[in-house]
Amino acid sequence: MNDTTTQRRAVFYGRRQARKLPAIAHDLLADLLPRVRASVPPDLAGFDSWELEIGFGGGEHLAARAAAHRDVGFFGAEPFLNGVSMLLQAIDRDRLSNVRIWPEDARLLLDALPDRSLGRIYLLFPDPWPKRRHEKRRFLQTEMLDVFARVLRPGGELRFASDHPALMGWMLARADAHAAFAGGPVEAEAIGTRYERKNLAGHPARYAAYRRL
Ligand SMILES: C[S@@+](CC[C@H](N)C(=O)[O-])C[C@H]1O[C@@H](n2cnc3c(N)ncnc32)[C@H](O)[C@@H]1O
Repeated sequence: MNDTTTQRRAVFYGRRQARKLPAIAHDLLADLLPRVRASVPPDLAGFDSWELEIGFGGGEHLAARAAAHRDVGFFGAEPFLNGVSMLLQAIDRDRLSNVRIWPEDARLLLDALPDRSLGRIYLLFPDPWPKRRHEKRRFLQTEMLDVFARVLRPGGELRFASDHPALMGWMLARADAHAAFAGGPVEAEAIGTRYERKNLAGHPARYAAYRRL
């Protein structure tokens, strides 16, 4: 990744911090984050299989999956520091030694991952950017599917979810049109993330799974 690529792609449309961080969050960000922070290029030692969750929010899904699959390594990318501190609390409480946090724009981590290094990518309830002029800010673009196709191993899986009908239609259309992926909507249990529970769009959540061909 050269500097121009980094600068061009490191545009994060969102908040880094909302309410004041509690003292425990400051402690965890200072003490634990440096120990579990993903490096660039990422270190894949220690686990045969790796998964990535993009925009993990409060980390509810990532922490539950990491606790249930301790033989798998998990990268979580989330620039929102309140969310990062929530995942750090779960890592500390549940002794999750298989989680690496990238507290920055996920695109920088994706660019640094080797080809065929991931078994699964999750993009759960990403920001919908409903206005037409903001559609280019949506995380899942055809160019991003090219990146996902590079870093997923053959047979690996891309999972995404949304309760925003227009965004779901947008993501399904792009994934359907991409030659490297096959799949579509799937029936799934509620994942239990904060945004799934908030249900801001007021429509039922829908889930999709695409296999890397
Ligand atoms: C609507 S929230 C959903 C959070 C979580 N997945 C959930 O379901 O509760 C979208 C999240 O994506 C994060 N995000 C937005 N752009 C991102 C990027 N380029 N890289 C990583 N995370 C990003 C935001 O900070 C925000 O926390």
